[in-house]
Order: sequence, then structure tokens, then C-alpha cells
Amino acid sequence: MKKQPVIRVRDLYFSYGSHEVLKEINLTVYEGDYIAIIGPNGGGKTTFTKLLLGLLTPTKGEITIFGKSVFDARKEIGYLPQYINFNMDMPINVFDIVLQGRLTPNKLFYSHEDKQIALAQLEKMRIEDLKERKIKELSGGQRQRVLLARALAKQPRILILDEPTASIDPEGQKDIYDLLKKLPLTKIIVSHDIQVLFEGVNRVAHINKTLYLHEDIDTSIKRNEGHFCEMELLNYIKSHSCSS
Ligand SMILES: Nc1ncnc2c1ncn2[C@@H]1O[C@H](COP(=O)(O)OP(=O)(O)OP(=O)(O)O)[C@@H](O)[C@H]1O
Ligand SMILES: [Mg+2]
Repeated sequence: MKKQPVIRVRDLYFSYGSHEVLKEINLTVYEGDYIAIIGPNGGGKTTFTKLLLGLLTPTKGEITIFGKSVFDARKEIGYLPQYINFNMDMPINVFDIVLQGRLTPNKLFYSHEDKQIALAQLEKMRIEDLKERKIKELSGGQRQRVLLARALAKQPRILILDEPTASIDPEGQKDIYDLLKKLPLTKIIVSHDIQVLFEGVNRVAHINKTLYLHEDIDTSIKRNEGHFCEMELLNYIKSHSCSS
């Protein structure tokens, strides 16, 4: 069965003032895609995700999500931003943070169903035992899982993650990749970690002002146990040419 397009980006341009950050971006994301976005610092990856979320408005071009404007599609997208400024002294616990994913405008109380959904996400992220803990009592990897659980509590159809494994040790990164792999959603993950290419993504977009897409990623190539071998990467890249 042919996969349905869920996100369509057409001839997208974006500038901060006179600084052009993205140009001529075209991309169609299909249902169930797991897309890695890679590229250099300042290449425009975070800016691109913010455009998908409607947090920024294109200078030119169009984005539709499920055939709707990004504004109307917002509730369908779970998001884990690159930087979160947590007030570590916040008195709320992990469960309260995950429940925030159930917040909608004008909602005053969480229902029994909201609490059940939040709990189910904690279980999915295997952190139900941390439910009562405060955010400052958690490791970086545990904190990322809490934020993932919060993004999932929204029950989104698309998940956008901006550097979810930055500042987590390799073992913790592997845990997060394994959890993500199992989520039956359309996923877009921004990462500097080349390991992400071996963690079940089916397409890779390289963004450095423009976007180049690498299709049909060969997931049979595995990294050596314990460390990443640059030769494997070189051989892998050699077999893929850039296409816009
Ligand atoms: N709020 C802003 N105002 C002005 N310029 C910005 C703003 N945010 C980002 N930029 C600039 O836009 C460009 C793209 O930034 P962006 O954060 O999208 O890059 P990135 O690919 O996510 O980089 P990184 O890998 O470091 O996270 C950079 O040159 C950056 O300095
Ligand atoms: Mg970024």
C-alpha cells in the first residue's frame, strides 16, 4: 500500500532579518518515515524544525501537515526542543511534568484518562519508578526520557526531536535510540551523532542552508561493537549520492 504524505514542504526560504538561513527546501515526509536530519552547526536544522512547528514563519514557500496549515496541525506534533531551561527548584515531580503533555488551552483539571495516558508513557519510557522524583534528582538520560514521555503524552502522530541524545553517554544514547525505534510514529530526529544513521532511520536529510536527501538508507551496515569505525562510514557514504 502506498504511504500517505504527512508533511509537504515546498520551496521554503527563511531569513532572520537579512541573514538567509534556509533556501529552496523541498521535502515530503511519508507516514511512518523515520528521518534523521544531520548537518553542521548553524546549518539551519533547528530553524527548520521550528518552521515545521509553526514557531517561525517562512519568508517564502509553504508547509502543509496532514493537508493543513502548520498552525492547525500543531496538536498532531510532539516536540523535544534542543534546549530546555529547567528551573531545577521547581517543586513539581516527574509525573506532573509528563502530565503537562496533556495540557490544552482552557483545560483546568487533568482527567482520570489524562493520568492514565501519562502513566502509560512513563511505562513506555521505562521510568515509572521515577514518577515521584524531582527533575533535579535525575541524570541527563533520565531527564530526556521524561521529556520524551511528556511529548508522547500529547498522543501525537508526528514526533520531532532536536538532539535528544546530546550530552548523554553512549549507553544512554543507545537506550534512547532503542525506545525511539519502537515508537510507531512518523519521526524526525536532528542529531550530530552519526550513530543515529544505524538506529532504524529510513531517510537522511543533510541541511546546510539547503537540504539534500539520502533515500533508502541501508540499515544492514552495522557499527562495530564498542566503537564507531570511520571506514564503515566512508564506505557507506560512498554508496550514496546526494540528490535534492
Ligand atoms: N533567534 C535567532 N536570531 C538570529 N539568528 C539566529 C537565531 N537562531 C538561529 N540563528 C542563526 O541561524 C543559523 C541557523 O541556526 P540553527 O540554530 O537553525 O542551526 P543548527 O543547524 O540547529 O545548529 P546546531 O547544530 O548548532 O544546533 C545560525 O547562523 C544561527 O546563528
Ligand atoms: Mg540546532
